[in-house]
Amino acid sequence: MAKDKKTVFFCQNCGYESGKWQGQCPACREWNTFVEETVTTVSAKRRSGGQEAARASKLSQIQTGRESRMSTGYGELDRVLGGGIVRGSLVLVGGDPGIGKSTLLLQVCRNLTAGGEKVLYISGEESLQQIKMRADRVGEFPNDMLLFCETSLELVEEMIRRERPKVVVIDSIQTMYREDLSSAPGSVSQVREATNTFMQIAKGMEITVFLVGHVTKEGVVAGPRVLEHMVDTVLYFEGDRYAAYRILRGVKNRFGSTNEIGVFEMRESGLSEVANPSEYMLSGKPEGASGSIVACAMEGTRPILVEVQALVCRTNFGIPRRTAVGADINRVNLLMAVLEKRLGVALGDCDAYVNIAGGIRMNEPALDLAIVLAILSSKKDVSLGEKTIAFGEVGLSGEIRAVTMARQRVAEAKKLGFARCILPQVSLDGMEPVEGIRLIGVRMVKDLEKVLAFTG
Ligand code: TYD
Ligand code: MG
Repeated sequence: MAKDKKTVFFCQNCGYESGKWQGQCPACREWNTFVEETVTTVSAKRRSGGQEAARASKLSQIQTGRESRMSTGYGELDRVLGGGIVRGSLVLVGGDPGIGKSTLLLQVCRNLTAGGEKVLYISGEESLQQIKMRADRVGEFPNDMLLFCETSLELVEEMIRRERPKVVVIDSIQTMYREDLSSAPGSVSQVREATNTFMQIAKGMEITVFLVGHVTKEGVVAGPRVLEHMVDTVLYFEGDRYAAYRILRGVKNRFGSTNEIGVFEMRESGLSEVANPSEYMLSGKPEGASGSIVACAMEGTRPILVEVQALVCRTNFGIPRRTAVGADINRVNLLMAVLEKRLGVALGDCDAYVNIAGGIRMNEPALDLAIVLAILSSKKDVSLGEKTIAFGEVGLSGEIRAVTMARQRVAEAKKLGFARCILPQVSLDGMEPVEGIRLIGVRMVKDLEKVLAFTG
């Protein structure tokens, strides 16, 4: 078989391929991410061998069983996966180093083994002793969970074919390498080759494979984004390393919705689920402070309450500073412009800091109204009252626009004991009154002054 060797350059961030080295990747705009790799291409002769002529199938003749799903033992994870693990699927779990990917998957392996499934945990990063130590920290493990520490792709493949487990965890995909490829472990070609191998195992043997992928900030190791298009499901595990909770976010899912998130908390003894994230996010909210209001955002099918904080103060330099943590800074700038123009609030000489407390990142337009209220409240130094919640989108003309699932948001606010809810009048029009919570409809940002009786 004819083999061609050639050198190409790959962006380690997104996998973009180029014939020459470039300082900035044209696809993902990252700097200094190109690394030279040798790739071996097998010429296409093999394809035209004595195979049967290919035929297309009629859709109506294709048989499907109901896709069978297994529970991971964690409702939060099952929901993000679209209702449990699909057999024979390839799932990528990405995240910063140290965020808890290995811990999560080890705990999932424990649950699956306890439920009678055969599970193989393959680690290329830690020794058997290290995994055992982690397992001891996390709690009781069933005796028959299989572990294997190896980085050679051939040996790993052989082991899977021999053991034939139902679920395999590869921790991490960046450590797996094939010796006959000339590029270094962790490079784009190695990582792609390994993913391809696991894809064939997953589809060919009906084994669910979880791949762990580290998000790398610079250069040497290919990041999980390179693989996103090759796998069935992409989950990112995120959160502040210094805060206890972790959010598992679905980014791509061939078997379910992608908007779902799962919330976990990192404890002394491993990860545990947070069944009521709203309560969790609101713990520690200051009482009676200006510049703070609770907003209701939807994450997939679930409402989550978060505290939106703003601090507006006179600028000390010529150009005002605007910073947003957790919210989109462009959106904050836009909302401040709307306030200037439509309400006549002078913000031109003010620094503004907007923060979604708890470190969660959200950019749903329904947060607009809360951001606007927090900025107004801080600017005028007036408290909005503790038991108030707001949601709604703000348009450029200062109109408050409807948002989806208003009823669910109100229900969540009521469940957590809020007494007043400020929402778009358009959403309120289609809703029956709700017992126990006062609903205040607003049409324009102008109405906010009236509703809140600002003194400033
Ligand atoms: P780990 O799962 O090793 O992260 P990753 O595989 O994503 O790199 O998580 C390691 C972090 O979690 C580490 O900082 C210690 C912390 N941790 C706990 O706080 N409690 C625990 O029970 C365990 C196992 C880890
Ligand atoms: Mg790890």
